[in-house]
Amino acid sequence: MPLNPWNTLFSFLTIILPLLNPFVAFAVNPQGEALLSWKQSLNGPTEALSNWNPTDETPCGWFGITCNINKEVVELELRYLSLYGTVPTNLSSLVSLTKVVLSSTNLTGSIPREIAILHELNYLDLSDNALTGEIPSEICNLFKLQEIHLISNQLEGSIPVQIGNLTSLKWVTLYYNQLSGEIPNTIGNLKNLQVIRVGWNKNLGGIIPREIGNCTELTMLGLTETSVSGFLPLSLGFLKKLETIYISTTLLSGQIPPEIGDCIALRNISLSKNSLTGSIPKSLGNLKNLQKLFLWDNSLVGTIPSELGNCKKLTVLDVSENSLTGNIPQSFGNLSALQELHLQRNQISDKIPAQLENCKELTCIDLGNNSIAGTIPSEIGNLTELQLLFLYKNKLVGPIPSSISKCQNVKILDLASNGLTGNIPPRIFQLKKLKIIQLFSNNLSGEIPENIGNCSSLFWFEVRDNKLTGPIPREIGNLENLDILDLSLNRISGIVPAEILGCRNLTYLSLNSNLITGNFPGKLSCLVLLQFVDFSDNFIEGTWPLHVLPRHIAFFSISRNNLSGEIPSSICNLYFVNYLEFSHNHFSMIPPCLGNMSDLINLELQNNNLHGTIPKFVECSNLKSLKLAGNQLEGSLPRSLVNCKKLEILDVANNKVNGTFPHWLVNLPELRVLLL
Ligand SMILES: *[C@@H]1O[C@H](CO)[C@@H](O)[C@H](O)[C@H]1NC(C)=O
Ligand SMILES: *[C@@H]1O[C@H](CO)[C@@H](O)[C@H](O)[C@H]1NC(C)=O
Ligand SMILES: *[C@@H]1O[C@H](CO)[C@@H](O)[C@H](O)[C@H]1NC(C)=O
Ligand SMILES: *[C@@H]1O[C@H](CO)[C@@H](O)[C@H](O)[C@H]1NC(C)=O
Ligand SMILES: *[C@@H]1O[C@H](CO)[C@@H](O)[C@H](O)[C@H]1NC(C)=O
Ligand SMILES: *[C@@H]1O[C@H](CO)[C@@H](O)[C@H](O)[C@H]1NC(C)=O
Ligand SMILES: *[C@@H]1O[C@H](CO)[C@@H](O)[C@H](O)[C@H]1NC(C)=O
Ligand SMILES: *[C@@H]1O[C@H](CO)[C@@H](O)[C@H](O)[C@H]1NC(C)=O
Ligand SMILES: *[C@@H]1O[C@H](CO)[C@@H](O)[C@H](O)[C@H]1NC(C)=O
Ligand SMILES: *[C@@H]1O[C@H](CO)[C@@H](O)[C@H](O)[C@H]1NC(C)=O
Ligand SMILES: *[C@@H]1O[C@H](CO)[C@@H](O)[C@H](O)[C@H]1NC(C)=O
Ligand SMILES: *[C@@H]1O[C@H](CO)[C@@H](O)[C@H](O)[C@H]1NC(C)=O
Repeated sequence: MPLNPWNTLFSFLTIILPLLNPFVAFAVNPQGEALLSWKQSLNGPTEALSNWNPTDETPCGWFGITCNINKEVVELELRYLSLYGTVPTNLSSLVSLTKVVLSSTNLTGSIPREIAILHELNYLDLSDNALTGEIPSEICNLFKLQEIHLISNQLEGSIPVQIGNLTSLKWVTLYYNQLSGEIPNTIGNLKNLQVIRVGWNKNLGGIIPREIGNCTELTMLGLTETSVSGFLPLSLGFLKKLETIYISTTLLSGQIPPEIGDCIALRNISLSKNSLTGSIPKSLGNLKNLQKLFLWDNSLVGTIPSELGNCKKLTVLDVSENSLTGNIPQSFGNLSALQELHLQRNQISDKIPAQLENCKELTCIDLGNNSIAGTIPSEIGNLTELQLLFLYKNKLVGPIPSSISKCQNVKILDLASNGLTGNIPPRIFQLKKLKIIQLFSNNLSGEIPENIGNCSSLFWFEVRDNKLTGPIPREIGNLENLDILDLSLNRISGIVPAEILGCRNLTYLSLNSNLITGNFPGKLSCLVLLQFVDFSDNFIEGTWPLHVLPRHIAFFSISRNNLSGEIPSSICNLYFVNYLEFSHNHFSMIPPCLGNMSDLINLELQNNNLHGTIPKFVECSNLKSLKLAGNQLEGSLPRSLVNCKKLEILDVANNKVNGTFPHWLVNLPELRVLLL
C-alpha cells in the first residue's frame, strides 16, 4: 500500500506537538482539559495515564474514565497508582461525575471543599492515601451520596454533624484516621445506612447516640479502637438487620443490654477490651445466627448462660479475662459448629462437661487459669480436630487420659499447675504434630516413657515439679527439634545419657533438683545453641571436664553437687555468660581470669574448698553479686573490686581473708549486702 507522506507527517506532528507544549494542542473537550490539567499537577510517574491523549475529542476512552451516553464523564476511578498529587480542586467542568475513586494513589493535601459542586456524586472513595485536614462539611450537600470511603488517611476534626442530611447514605467507612469529636446523633436520620465503620480513630469519643436505633437498615457497626464511652444504647435492639457489632478496645462501661438479643440477624459480636460489667445476658441465646462472640477482657460477672447453647452456628466463643463464675454449661455440647472455646482467666468451677465431645469441630479449648475441678474427661479423645488444649492452673485431679493420643492434630498440650496424678501416658508421644507439652507443677509419677523419642515435632517439654522417677530416656536424643527441656524438681536418677547430644536445637536444659549421678556429661559444647544449663542440686561427681560448654551460654549452674578439682581457666572463654554458679561442691582452685569476664552478673563459688587469693576484678562492670564465702581464700580483698560499679552483694565470709577494713568499698553505690 502506498504511503501518503502527508498523513505520516500529520500523525507525527500530533504526537510530537503536545509533548513540546501540551497547552497548545488541546483538541479535547473541557472535561478532558480539566482532567489533563490535574494530570499535569501530579508529581508521580504517570505511565498509567499515558492514554490520556489531548488530541482525543473526549476523555471517554481514557484509562480510569467512564462516560455516559452523552459522552459526559461520570466515573473517575484510579487505584493502586503512585500519583503523588492532590484531589482535583477544579471540578467545575466535571459536575457530571457520579463516582470518584482515587484510592491507594499516594494523594496528599486535604479533601477540597470544591467537591460540593459534584451534585450527581453518589460514590466517593479516597481511601488509603495520606490526606490531611478535616472532612469538609460541604460534602454533606451531596444529597445523592450513597457511599463514602475515606479509610486509612490522616483526617482530623469531627464527623460533620450535617452528615444527617445525606439521607441516601448506605456506607460510611472512615476507619484508620485521626478523627475526634463525637458521633453526631443526626445519624439517626440515615434510614438507609447499612454500614458505618469509624474504628481506629483514637480520639473519637462521646457516647454511642441512641438515635442509632433509627438506622434500621444497619448491618455493620464498627467502632473498635475509639474512645467511645458510656453504655451501649438499648435502642440497638431495634436493629433487626444488624449482623456485626465491632466495638472492642474502647471506654464502654455498664451492662450489655439484654435488648441485643433482639438483633436477630447478628453474626459477629466483638465487645472485648472494654469495661463492661454485669452478667452476660441470657437473651444472647436468641441469636440463632451468631457465629462469633468476643467478650474477653471486661469485668463481667455471674455465670455463663446455658442459653448460649442455643446459638447453634457459634464457631468462636471467647469470654476470657473476666470474673465469670459457675460451671461450663452442659448445653455447650449442642454447639456442633464450635471451633474455639476460650474461657481462660475467670473463676469458673465445677467439672469439664463430657458433652463437649459433641463439639466435633473444636480446634481450641482454652480453660486455663480457672478453678475447674474433677478429672479430664476421656471423651476429649473424640475431638479429632483439636489442636490446642489449655487446661493449666485449675484444680484438675486424676490421670492424664491416654485417649488424648487419638487427637491426631494436637500441637499444644498444656496441663500445668493442676493436681494430676499417675503416669505420663506413653501414647501421647505418638502425636506427630505435638510441639509443646506443659505438665509442670502436678503430682505425676512413674518414669518418662521412652516413647518420647517418637514425638518428632516436640519443641518444648516441661515436667518440672512432679514426682517423676527413673532415668532420662536415651530416646530423648531422637528429638532434633527439642528446644526447651525442663525436668527439674523431680526424682529422676541415673546419668545424663550421652544421646542428649542428639538434641541439636536445645537452648534450655534444666535438670536441677533431681537424683542425677555420674560425671558431668562431656561435649555439651556440641549443643551450640545452648544458653541455659542448670544441673544444680544433684549428685554429679568427678572433676570438671575441659571444654564442656558451648560459647554462647548465658546461665550455667552446677551448684550443690559433688564435683572436685580445679575450675579450669577455659571457663573464662564463655564470654557471654551472665550467671555462673559453682557453689557447694569441692572445687579447689579459682582461675584468675574470672575477673575478666565482663558479662558476668552473678558469680557463686561459695562453700567449696577454694585456695589462693581472690582474683583481680578488671572487667566486671555488670557484676551484681559475688559470693565466695566458705572457702580457704587468703590475702586481702582486692581493691580492684571498685571497678564493679553495680555490685550489690559481696560475700567473702568464712575465708582467711585479712588486711585492714576496706573503706574504699564506699565507692560502690549499689552495695547492699557485705559479709566479710
Ligand atoms: C478550571 O478549569 C477550567 C477548564 O476546565 C478553566 O477554564 C479554569 O480556568 C480553571 N480554573 C482554575 C482556577 O484553574
Ligand atoms: C504510596 O502508596 C503506597 C500504597 O498505598 C504505599 O505503600 C507507599 O508507602 C506510598 N508511598 C509514599 C512515599 O507514601
Ligand atoms: C443539614 O443539617 C444541618 C444540621 O443537622 C441542618 O441544620 C440543616 O438544616 C441541614 N441542611 C439541609 C439543606 O437539609
Ligand atoms: C426515630 O424516628 C422516629 C420517626 O421515624 C422518631 O419519632 C423517633 O424520635 C426517632 N428516634 C430516635 C431515637 O431518634
Ligand atoms: C462475621 O463473621 C463471619 C463468619 O464468621 C465472617 O465471614 C464475616 O467476615 C464477619 N463479618 C465481618 C464484617 O467481619
Ligand atoms: C441442648 O443441651 C441440653 C443439655 O445438654 C439438652 O438437654 C438439650 O436437649 C439440647 N438441645 C438440643 C436442641 O439439642
Ligand atoms: C491467672 O489470672 C490472674 C488474674 O486473673 C493473673 O494475675 C495471673 O497472671 C494468671 N496466671 C497465669 C498463669 O496466666
Ligand atoms: C468417645 O470417647 C469415649 C471414651 O473415650 C468412648 O468410649 C467412645 O466410644 C467415644 N465415642 C466416639 C463416637 O468416638
Ligand atoms: C501432691 O500430692 C501431695 C501429697 O498427696 C499433696 O500434698 C500436694 O498438694 C499435691 N500437689 C498438687 C499440686 O496437687
Ligand atoms: C515408639 O518408641 C518405642 C520406644 O522407643 C519404639 O519401640 C516404638 O517402635 C515406637 N513406635 C512408633 C510408632 O514409632
Ligand atoms: C532447629 O531450629 C531451626 C531454627 O530455629 C529450625 O529451622 C530447624 O528446623 C530446627 N530443627 C532442626 C532439626 O534443626
Ligand atoms: C595476710 O595473710 C597472708 C597469708 O596468709 C600473710 O602473708 C600476710 O602477712 C597477712 N597480712 C596481714 C596484714 O595480716
